[in-house]
Amino acid sequence: MQFLSKKEIHLREILPEGYVDIHSHLLPAIDDGVKTVYQSAYIIEQFEKLGVKKIITTPHIMQEVWPNTSETIRTKHTEMQKALSSLDINVTLEASAEYMLDDLFYKRIKEKDIIPLHQRYLLVEMSTFNPPINLNEILFEIKLAGFTPILAHPERYSFYKDDINKFIQLKESGFLFQLNLLSMSGYYGEKVKNMAAKLLTEKLFDFAGSDVHNYQQFETLEKGFIPKYAKEISKLMRQNCSFS
Ligand SMILES: [Fe+2]
Repeated sequence: MQFLSKKEIHLREILPEGYVDIHSHLLPAIDDGVKTVYQSAYIIEQFEKLGVKKIITTPHIMQEVWPNTSETIRTKHTEMQKALSSLDINVTLEASAEYMLDDLFYKRIKEKDIIPLHQRYLLVEMSTFNPPINLNEILFEIKLAGFTPILAHPERYSFYKDDINKFIQLKESGFLFQLNLLSMSGYYGEKVKNMAAKLLTEKLFDFAGSDVHNYQQFETLEKGFIPKYAKEISKLMRQNCSFS
């Protein structure tokens, strides 16, 4: 493999034409992501320089911390689109959300108050301490509403204690898996990186995402990955082209 002679593979070397990023926090001041329009526009411009033409950004909706409404997200999205167009940044910016599987989400899905990702998908996350006790009921409601859930960064759910069967069960129950590219950069530590590598080797991921919240994370992401995983990551990123 051509990558093996190199120490590190930069993201730009493996980014497929048509890659769509489906996980980021680039709407200003509504979650723990970027704070200002400037910060958002700057990061989006860096993505454009890498060759990314479309970003579906996904602010948190989390009952206890960031109970964003569909309205707050749409308003910020429109504001950012206007800023990008006046700055001549030509990345298509769409907005969805990263839904925490909590009581607020349960209420929203029952009321069909949802901003889907690419029409039929929902990006969802769990607490990093434990899965929701009513996980099956929530999954039922998601399917009933006609959506396919994409579970964000399964490699970060350490409560499954590296038990690959737990992840296989989740997939069999109907979740698709999204790898955080930052996990492969070692950003969340060795444990998460190893879990990500394991799930990647087992071919359990369906999509990739940056999960970028700020410029520092973008820089880490851009630096790339160790060559061993570059081919698999590149293959996975190609699956994101279906969101174009
Ligand atoms: Fe996220």
